Amino acid sequence: MSKIILTGDRPTGRLHVGHYAGSLKRRVELQNSGEYEKIFIMIADAQALTDNFENPEKVRQNIIEVALDYLSVGLDPKMSTLFIQSQIPELTELSFYYMNLVTVSRLQRNPTVKAEIQMRNFEASIPAGFLCYPISQAADITAFKATTVPVGDDQLPMIEQTREIVRRFNTIYAETLVEPEALLPENEACMRLPGTDGKAKMSKSLGNCIYLADTPEEVQKKIMSMYTDPLHVRVEDPGRVDGNAVFTYLDAFCREEHLERYLPEYRNLEELKAHYQRGGLGDVKLKKLLNKIIQEELEPIRARRKEYEKDIASVYDILKAGSLRAREEAAKTLDEVKKAMKINYFDDLTLLEKQSQMYHNN
Ligand code: TRP
Repeated sequence: MSKIILTGDRPTGRLHVGHYAGSLKRRVELQNSGEYEKIFIMIADAQALTDNFENPEKVRQNIIEVALDYLSVGLDPKMSTLFIQSQIPELTELSFYYMNLVTVSRLQRNPTVKAEIQMRNFEASIPAGFLCYPISQAADITAFKATTVPVGDDQLPMIEQTREIVRRFNTIYAETLVEPEALLPENEACMRLPGTDGKAKMSKSLGNCIYLADTPEEVQKKIMSMYTDPLHVRVEDPGRVDGNAVFTYLDAFCREEHLERYLPEYRNLEELKAHYQRGGLGDVKLKKLLNKIIQEELEPIRARRKEYEKDIASVYDILKAGSLRAREEAAKTLDEVKKAMKINYFDDLTLLEKQSQMYHNN
C-alpha cells in the first residue's frame, strides 16, 4: 500500500521552536525522504474556530503566519500539498456521517478533549462543535487515506478515535477507509520541549515561546534569561540537569559537530552534563552555546521567511492551488463513502433499474 501523510496545525498563533522540534523538522525530513507518495499539510482553521468561534479575525490572520512558517522551514509546495481545511467542504460532509459512529460519552472520555475542556472552562456548557472536533479530525485524516500522521503525543487520542471510526465504518458499510498510524518524534526532548521558563510546554499565553519568526536579538534575549536550576547560584555549585530547560533544548538540538565548533573541550553532551553536575560550569556558558546552536538552526528559516513575506500573494496562490488539489482527493473518498453508505442515489443506475422494475411488476 502506498504511504500517505496527513497532518496539520490550528492557526491560532505563529509557530514556535516547540512546534519545530516536535513536528515541523520531521515533516521536512519525511518530505525529502521520498518515501511518501503523497503529503498533505493542513492549516486547521475550522478546528481552530471550534474554540475561537468568536474571533474569526484571529484565525484568519494566523493562516498566513502558519503558511509562512511552513514554507520557511522547508515544506515545499512541489512535494507537499499545503491547504486550508475550511476550503474542503467534503471534510464537513464526512464529519456529519462519522458522527453517527461515535457516542457522546466516548467523546467526553477523549483525554485531550477532556484537558482542553477544563483549560477553557467549558465544563458547564461545552459547544457541540468543540466536543465533536475529534470526529472532524478523523475526517481530515481519512479523506486523504492517510497511512501516517506525524504528530506530538497529545494527538494520540485523536488517532485512536480515528482508528475506531474507520473500523466501525468499514464493518457497518464496506471496506473503504484506511486505518492511520501516528508517527511520534524519535527524540524524547523534541517531544516535550519546555517553555523558556521551564514550564511543561511553550504556550503563547504563558509568554514562554521562542518563535520561528523572532529576530536574532529576541532569540538571544529569551535564551539568556532561560530557566535553569534555581539552586545553581555560583559557577562552582553542582547543578541539576533534570528539569533544566537549557539541557532539554540541548538534548533536542545539540549535535557533536556543534560542540566541536563551539566548545571543543567537550566531546559530547554527556561530558558537558557531567561537568555541570560536578560544579564549575556556569549557566552563561551553556546559554551562549545554546544560543549559537539555535541561531544557526533558525537563520535559514528566517531568511526564507523574509523572501516569502515579500510576496504574500504568491503564498495565497500556493494555498489556493493546494486547496484545489486537496479537494479533488477528498471528493474521491467522499464518493466512495457515499457509495458504501448507499446514498449515491443519482449515480447508481442499477438501483434506478431495480426500482423501476419493482414498480412495473406490480
Ligand atoms: N489537532 C491538531 C492540533 O491541535 C490539528 C489537526 C487538525 C490535525 N486535524 C488534524 C493534526 C489531522 C493531525 C491530523 O494541532
